[in-house]
Amino acid sequence: MSDRSSTGGYDPSGIDLDAWTKLEEQLEQSIPHYDKVNRWMTFGQDKVWRRNVRNHAEEGMKILEVGCGPGSFAEDLVGLDVTCLDPSAEMLRVAKKRVDSARKSRGEKPAKYVEAIAESIPLPDDTFDRVFCLFSFRDFQDKKKGLEEIFRVLKPGGQVVICDAGKANWFHGLAGRIWMATVVQLIARIITKEKDHPWKGLARTYSHYGTNGYYRKVMREVGFEDVQGRLLLPFGMSSRFRAFKPKR
Ligand SMILES: C[S@@+](CC[C@H](N)C(=O)[O-])C[C@H]1O[C@@H](n2cnc3c(N)ncnc32)[C@H](O)[C@@H]1O
Repeated sequence: MSDRSSTGGYDPSGIDLDAWTKLEEQLEQSIPHYDKVNRWMTFGQDKVWRRNVRNHAEEGMKILEVGCGPGSFAEDLVGLDVTCLDPSAEMLRVAKKRVDSARKSRGEKPAKYVEAIAESIPLPDDTFDRVFCLFSFRDFQDKKKGLEEIFRVLKPGGQVVICDAGKANWFHGLAGRIWMATVVQLIARIITKEKDHPWKGLARTYSHYGTNGYYRKVMREVGFEDVQGRLLLPFGMSSRFRAFKPKR
């Protein structure tokens, strides 16, 4: 991962391919304990944040989740036409089992699954009413390119909602890095019972991640309108961005 720039806690140039490939390996290793570590490190708030994002969808809408991981969010998308995208075949395998079994129990058709990165989405323009991105935006190699692709596949008037770690400014970022380097490491070690657990590497994506203000600016540059990005409680541990593709 490239060094943080001196511009307040972000590196606009993104993550290099070697660092990203290593990150993907660590994310796959995290699958067996992923939900449990998340629950503990956020004091159970991840459930509240997921519900917050889910509430932006209305029945029958076409939804794309970018970076679906093991399906922790997509399994609870009810009454919607869902497409799950992730670059990891292993994540998609786990997500498919989990999401389709939840959908089957509700009498819904299976979701669709796409193996791809956000920066190159192999789907047509103007397709989705909503694009959701939970705790995956931070992992994109090139966040601006990912946002451009999300913009392209959204229908005119469609909305993107992104939820990820919070970073208001340099000082808040420092507090977040201390949290990631101490409490999160301890929780991951206790839950995984492993000294070399994947959260050792995963914490690094936060150091590299930009501030809310920086990504709001990038979203406007991409063409989104009504761009909002704010910290969520408690302690601004996470942030939520919302923005619309203009109606034609
Ligand atoms: C921490 S998991 C998030 C899982 C899930 N969305 C959730 O709600 O917990 C991050 C996911 O982002 C995916 N990812 C990493 N880089 C990506 C990229 N460039 N484009 C799309 N997804 C990416 C990873 O493979 C991983 O499955």
